[in-house]
Amino acid sequence: MSRHIVVLGGDGIGPEVTASAVEVLRALDAQRQLGLSFEAHAFGGAAIDAHGDPFPVQVLAACRAADAILLGAVGGPKWANVPTAIRPEAGLLRLRSELGLYANIRPLQVHPALVDASPLKRERIDGVDLVVVRELTGGIYFGERTRSDTRATDECAYTVAEVERVVRTAARLARSRCGKLTSVDKANVLETSRLWRDVVTRVVRDEFPDVQLEHLLVDAMAMYLVSRPRDFDVIVTENLFGDVLTDECAAVSGSLGLMPSASLGDSGPGVYEPIHGSAPDIAGQGLANPYGTIQSAAMMLRQSLGAPEAAVALEAAVHAAIRDGIRTRDLGGSATTADATAAVIARLMAAQAAYAA
Ligand code: NAD
Ligand code: IPM
Ligand code: MN
Repeated sequence: MSRHIVVLGGDGIGPEVTASAVEVLRALDAQRQLGLSFEAHAFGGAAIDAHGDPFPVQVLAACRAADAILLGAVGGPKWANVPTAIRPEAGLLRLRSELGLYANIRPLQVHPALVDASPLKRERIDGVDLVVVRELTGGIYFGERTRSDTRATDECAYTVAEVERVVRTAARLARSRCGKLTSVDKANVLETSRLWRDVVTRVVRDEFPDVQLEHLLVDAMAMYLVSRPRDFDVIVTENLFGDVLTDECAAVSGSLGLMPSASLGDSGPGVYEPIHGSAPDIAGQGLANPYGTIQSAAMMLRQSLGAPEAAVALEAAVHAAIRDGIRTRDLGGSATTADATAAVIARLMAAQAAYAA
């Protein structure tokens, strides 16, 4: 079986963390004969520099032909003054939109060995295990924008169909976990949120009567995520709220560098990327935490590449490296990106050797 992965390193620490994940995937492939192949393309700011476009058509064609896409991050000060429509970030939005990746799955688990790295107290976060399903191809990210000298607007729109499909993804996920779904909106102010709430209520009532649903307003949710994060199982929310709340989730886990994600549609390749950005402040120094990207690669093995056992092995190796105190600077340690990568690979090898013995 062959499995073809397009790698879009992007900008800043993006190429560093994807290189780490590819190294780990190659080690896993050597161990398990997964038939992995890799094809790298410039994306984001790097593609603006090389081709004048953050997401060139040939990169889109390569993505469509792939089994999965591994992405680092895009953007940085170099492209800060580029017009909005052709910024590195616009390339990322086009990638999500062109591939129909409407559901962005962002899991949060607090590793027992990292409780001290979290700004929250142990009694609040021991055992936190939740997943945010962020709507990814609608809302204010994709509405009309206008700008004059004195005024700017960003339109926020959602259709019933857009809400239905993402809530189905979230409700199916809730059903496979603890059966609890929290929908987050701003229905006390926004019309899009009122529509969102109506659709979520109907879909869950008619199609997922076994799923326990609650609605929360986004401002309160921002508070509950730090005051009682253990109470949540699956959270579904619109694009912008999901963006903001998941950086908050990452802080709960101990670092933005830890959180993985999968962006999925109804068919075709998924995009797997850490939730963090290009971190220009630490780029090129070997300081980036690669665990979020490596965990994204594990999600890729499970969800797009049909290799769930390899995913479990990879997750266990990351878990063991963290347990053994291999921490990058964001986690209070002194391990480099290369050290953390080598630590994960060493634990993959050790587990294999133990299994064979
Ligand atoms: P950021 O996520 O890049 O960085 C925020 C802070 O977290 C920084 O201090 C950074 O050093 C730290 N950090 C992030 N990832 C880390 C990692 N793996 N290891 C260690 N520390 C890490 O957010 P920002 O600084 O607001 O944005 C920088 C650029 O990244 C912007 O251009 C933004 O648009 C872009 N961005 C891209 C993506 C993406 O491509 N998916 C996501 C978020 C931000
Ligand atoms: C993310 C990022 C992106 C987003 C930006 C870079 C467009 O912050 O993936 O979380 O807002 O979706
Ligand atoms: Mn974000």
